[in-house]
Amino acid sequence: MERNWFTGMKKLTTRKIRKSKLSATGKSLQVLTCYDYQTAQMLNETELDMILVGDSLGNVVLGYDTTVQVSLTEMSIFGAAVRRGAPNKFVIVDMPFGSYTTFDKALENATKLFQETQAEALKLEGAYPHQLDIIKRLTQSGIPVMGHIGLTPQSVHEQGGYYTHGKDDSDKARLLAEAKLLEEAGCFSIVLECVTDEIATIITRELSIPTIGIGAGKNTDGQVLVINDLLKMGPGKYPNFCKPIANFYEQKLKLISEYILKSKKADNSDDADLHH
Ligand code: KIV
Repeated sequence: MERNWFTGMKKLTTRKIRKSKLSATGKSLQVLTCYDYQTAQMLNETELDMILVGDSLGNVVLGYDTTVQVSLTEMSIFGAAVRRGAPNKFVIVDMPFGSYTTFDKALENATKLFQETQAEALKLEGAYPHQLDIIKRLTQSGIPVMGHIGLTPQSVHEQGGYYTHGKDDSDKARLLAEAKLLEEAGCFSIVLECVTDEIATIITRELSIPTIGIGAGKNTDGQVLVINDLLKMGPGKYPNFCKPIANFYEQKLKLISEYILKSKKADNSDDADLHH
């Protein structure tokens, strides 16, 4: 970790992250999502490398069906809350669906999100030619960009559902080409979501910037998980690549239910006393 010359704070920088290949450091970069101030305060005290304010907040915080519904304002509010809670962490905020369809729109929205959240970087999904051009020009404008290929949830309808990518030769070739183009466009790191172990290993070997996997096997330079999955914070199903370390939903349900029952009994006895 380096101290920022201006703020004096110890946190990762894009320069440091770019060099953090597992093969060179022997250490896997650890990234977790986070959406709120108090969880960010807790993560700020850990050795976590980066925090992602993912648009997965649409699913796990706001209860939307897909991330397509998430707005720029929502990303800005949650991103800024996380920033306030974790001043010592490298924070990345997702650009939401529809906010980077043209270069002018992307620059305006990215500048707004970057300034409002005070994040260190933004993440954009996809590697179509217009997106590569946008990424190139954002990085040239001083906004670091993390890429994201494979399963890109904002394109769930266009991709035709949630599934593992890179199973056949043409898909593998496409993913490798996209990863290389994202590196060339200036990304400091790339998320590989739900791609086969094989193509994740190849991409990781071929790129000089770190790959961060989610459902992409063990050979990427780092891993990212949705914190709600890791702690089992909801009652729903969890992705099979995530091994939860707790069952917060059950624990909280039990504690709160017990508290309510106990409080009701206490209330009854108070009532009884009052009406005596
Ligand atoms: O939105 C998100 O949480 C993400 C991760 C799953 C990589 O993009």
